Amino acid sequence: MPQNIQFTRTLLDHLRSVEKVAVLTGAGISAESGVPTFRGENGLWKKYRPEELANFDAFMSNPSLVWEWYNYRRDLISGIQPNPGHYALAELEPMYRSFTLITQNVDGLHRLAGSKHILELHGNIMINRCISCGTVASDVQGPQDTDLPHCECGELLRPDVVWFGESLPERELRLAFDAAESCDVFFSIGTSGIVQPAASFPLVAKQNGAYVVEINVEETVLSSHMDETVFAPSGEVMPQLVRRLNEVRD
Ligand code: OAD
Repeated sequence: MPQNIQFTRTLLDHLRSVEKVAVLTGAGISAESGVPTFRGENGLWKKYRPEELANFDAFMSNPSLVWEWYNYRRDLISGIQPNPGHYALAELEPMYRSFTLITQNVDGLHRLAGSKHILELHGNIMINRCISCGTVASDVQGPQDTDLPHCECGELLRPDVVWFGESLPERELRLAFDAAESCDVFFSIGTSGIVQPAASFPLVAKQNGAYVVEINVEETVLSSHMDETVFAPSGEVMPQLVRRLNEVRD
């Protein structure tokens, strides 16, 4: 039975009157869909070391191992559905003149839930890209058995995600900073706030006068910087927030 979430009048008033909202999501928003988070009790990085799997050198020295890991995660994600947290964000979007959804997730669940203006900062796990010519491959299959997927140019294909030590996509990064700087309300949802530069967006928003709100099941390194924190699962918090907002708007 979902708990009854209390929101402050300040937050509801802000959300009723403002025009620009930005949201940062992390693995926690997909947790209730069954996608494991990276850190924490059952986190993926407890079982696997990021430096062994999520970087370019690891890929070049053992592409089969890295592909195995990404195929394992693709399998985990395929067939998984968005949860009420994703759907509530999609519902929130048309209520504002400007709404930017910045996500660190590579699972594509925001798009599946109907969100439109999404910035995928860390790429998308279902897309492949050539390590040499950069061609994006529509074939989303990883290697079958021992065959590694190759581009038409002959070089290896890799998952189109950002690995440790790599730069984030330039356009997405710029638009995310713009949204953080110019928004009136900023939500940080289901992220540990450890990985940069995403973790700096809530602080950029706050420095520029936004009302910043965190939704997480536990305290994070960002919590003390927030104007408001709601410690409960996002799949419960976000639908209740949208419902309350609709009541306030009526
Ligand atoms: P983390 O695994 O670091 O953090 C997930 C956060 O979600 C934690 O703070 C949890 O407390 C919270 N959480 C768990 N369940 C929740 C729920 N139902 N509702 C709300 N919050 C919940 O994931 P990220 O912060 O996304 O990067 O990690 C950032 C990046 O680190 C990832 O994009 C990935 C990883 O290395 C790359 O691979 C480049």
